[in-house]
Amino acid sequence: MESYQKLLLANKAWVKDKLDVRADYFERMADDQTPEFLWIGCSDSRVPAEDITGTGPGELFVHRNIANQIIHTDFNMLSVLQYAIEVLKVKHVIVCGHYGCGGVKNALGHKDLGLINKWLRNIKDVYRIHQNELEGIEDSNMRFRRLVELNVQEQVWKLAETSFVQHSWQKGNGPQIHGWVYELHTGYLNDLMMLTPDNHVKDIYKFEFDD
Ligand code: CO
Repeated sequence: MESYQKLLLANKAWVKDKLDVRADYFERMADDQTPEFLWIGCSDSRVPAEDITGTGPGELFVHRNIANQIIHTDFNMLSVLQYAIEVLKVKHVIVCGHYGCGGVKNALGHKDLGLINKWLRNIKDVYRIHQNELEGIEDSNMRFRRLVELNVQEQVWKLAETSFVQHSWQKGNGPQIHGWVYELHTGYLNDLMMLTPDNHVKDIYKFEFDD
């Protein structure tokens, strides 16, 4: 059997499991979605959002890209964010990075990778902003781990700098924005930080809204 055929077979078994528990499982699921969380994670195959958080269909609205980047010209990410905040009205946005992230590791190097250079360049900016702290860490693996954390932290702030989040906060709504890092070696999530509407972005990033 070809590997892809196993996926289709597994799907049939999964449907049966769900229907065994509740005969109307899919009918109910098809009605609407009301997820409480937007998950922005790395594309890495070892960090499956639902599995590691014990969530199932209908609970996470998900966007994944290489090294969980928030890039202000990325219409894909921005569309997901706007929809999650304004339509789904999620209560929490979670940026989840992971130790051992290939994107972050490559950003620490100098190899020309073609198009992906442009994407990883944003992580080099994170390095530059925190250069003193990072170069004060002698152990290269510890420096790599710290850059993974700082990368998440910077993306959390970038979310707070978007007009969607600021407008929602000004109107007295959520979301809270969380920065987490997943440890591949243990399976545990490291809860790094949280921003709430009480947190303020630097003045230069602030927007004024008419309503
Ligand atoms: Co990664």
